Amino acid sequence: MKTIPIEAVRPVALRWPADDFSRVPYEIFHDPRIYQEEMQRLFHGPTWNYLGLEVEIPNWGDFLTTWVGDTHVIVTRAKNGAVHAFENTCAHRGSRIVDTVRGNAKRHTCPYHLWNYNLAGELTALPLEKGHNGKGGMPPCFDKKDHGLRKLRVAICGGLIFGTYSEQTEELQAYLGPHSLSQIDRLLVQRKPKVIGYLRQKIPSNWKLYNENVRDPYHASLLHLFQVSFGIQTPAMQGGIKMDKEGKNTWNHSILSEQDAKSREGLAAAYADTGKFMPDLELADPSLAQVKLDLDDNYKTTILSMFPTLIVAQVDNTYAIRHLRPKGPDAVELHITYLGFENDTPQLLHNRLLSVNFIGPAGYISLEDGEALRLVQEGTKSLRGAHSVLEMGGIGEINDTDYMSQEISIRGFWRHYHRVMQFPPAGHADTREAA
Ligand code: FES
Ligand SMILES: [Fe+2]
Repeated sequence: MKTIPIEAVRPVALRWPADDFSRVPYEIFHDPRIYQEEMQRLFHGPTWNYLGLEVEIPNWGDFLTTWVGDTHVIVTRAKNGAVHAFENTCAHRGSRIVDTVRGNAKRHTCPYHLWNYNLAGELTALPLEKGHNGKGGMPPCFDKKDHGLRKLRVAICGGLIFGTYSEQTEELQAYLGPHSLSQIDRLLVQRKPKVIGYLRQKIPSNWKLYNENVRDPYHASLLHLFQVSFGIQTPAMQGGIKMDKEGKNTWNHSILSEQDAKSREGLAAAYADTGKFMPDLELADPSLAQVKLDLDDNYKTTILSMFPTLIVAQVDNTYAIRHLRPKGPDAVELHITYLGFENDTPQLLHNRLLSVNFIGPAGYISLEDGEALRLVQEGTKSLRGAHSVLEMGGIGEINDTDYMSQEISIRGFWRHYHRVMQFPPAGHADTREAA
């Protein structure tokens, strides 16, 4: 690690003014130097990054490609059943090796000079290694063992495949913590999942704004006001948040309450003066909003957010893995994998896909979230030394709540982000070494 005066890599104006993370400096969403640091300190640091699902690569040779931050990675199933992950960049002269999203191959061959890698990412053969007719070839000191692809350490939990670059990263189960583990069990282990579709949504905002969005149940009945009009989700519903001790992993939930969902008259008063609430609005097809939950625990919405880029979401009977793929400081691709389960009836499968229409990028909810994040990105890009205000639900301590109108779990996210990025304590000048 080389020492560079921090002013050379980071704007002096970047300050975290509050040690409860109720203020977040806006430069964090825009500065390309911060983004580059995130790629190193965070995505190549002590984090477990979601890579894919075991059910996507069930057989020997199955592979998929994905992103860890902005690094392209291949995930494979080897003959002995082991799952491997390694960078999709040839050890010779840097070509991308696999240029498809998924498939099956018993080895991976770089298209440029045909170097061959096995399913663990080791270099096994290269044409002309010994030259031709006694001439040319690699020097005697060349050893294939020294030229494998850069590997990630892999661990699996509940069929979710994770990879990390750092030997310092704690074991996966400890990293995820008890709340996340219980929800992974509820959502992905009790029934055997199967992939029923993929969608991608490019959002013109920083990837961390999406992390704020999914830790923010407060906006659900405001930005997505149609949900209140239709009695789908209202501020009167019961719910809360649970976090691990560091705030990096969060479980937001809302509990369906029949009584509260019907009390739309009281809501009209709550939204008085907004000019937005339209209690008389009706769906042409109300069945879309009258879903009989397929789990019997009465949770209507559960959003499990795992640092840094994984969300497992249940909205009614729609189950989705959302993976954030940063594309520079001002863009993120949201990659969504929709799940059904092995014993789904055709009708249930149909209903799950119908709900995808409702909340997916072509529906209302994801569309509105994407637009809100674009507006924040636009609204903050020229600001220096300014910050957001995160006080809803209380300031100071970062604790679980049994209410939904809160931004406390967002503060939990920032506390952990701040730690992984090794920023100095709030209010102090930044004198770290460059990453
Ligand atoms: S760049 Fe891959 S074999 Fe040459
Ligand atoms: Fe939303």
